[in-house]
Amino acid sequence: MGTERTLVLVKPDGLKRRLAGEIISRFERKGLRLIALKEMRLTQSMAEEHYSVHRDKPFYRDLVQYIISAPILAMILEGNNAISVVRGMCGATDGSKAAPGTIRGDFALSIQNNIVHASDSLESYQHEAPIFFAEEEILVFSYGDEQLI
Ligand code: CMP
Repeated sequence: MGTERTLVLVKPDGLKRRLAGEIISRFERKGLRLIALKEMRLTQSMAEEHYSVHRDKPFYRDLVQYIISAPILAMILEGNNAISVVRGMCGATDGSKAAPGTIRGDFALSIQNNIVHASDSLESYQHEAPIFFAEEEILVFSYGDEQLI
């Protein structure tokens, strides 16, 4: 509750399908603050660390291979209840089940190639964010419209 930060990735399928702007735009229009942004290609060890909670799942190897197969866009968003707000905007993990109006509901059909990743808890954010951003790359500043949002 209260002001939170969350890590969002536009995954290789999202970037290759030229959806990065659409996705950033949705979060901006919601009123979230974009405080870090980077296009990058993950190394195998970064991907393994990012998805370490899924280490024992049958899809883990494929997931790691997929996320390193092309560049991704990583961002940190900040705002009131940002973790659950952003998860809601992303929709259910399986794109074929995600509600229309959500990112996955509007753009994905697959469970693996599901366009975006978003931290599912504060603990996940604290694990994930340092994999992608150094502390000095997170830019804390006032947008000036906070009293309107
Ligand atoms: P993400 O939010 O990045 O977190 C873990 C990812 O694992 C998930 O999105 C999907 O891309 C992937 N995933 C989850 N469940 C499955 C599954 N049953 N089969 C393949 N990939 C999955």
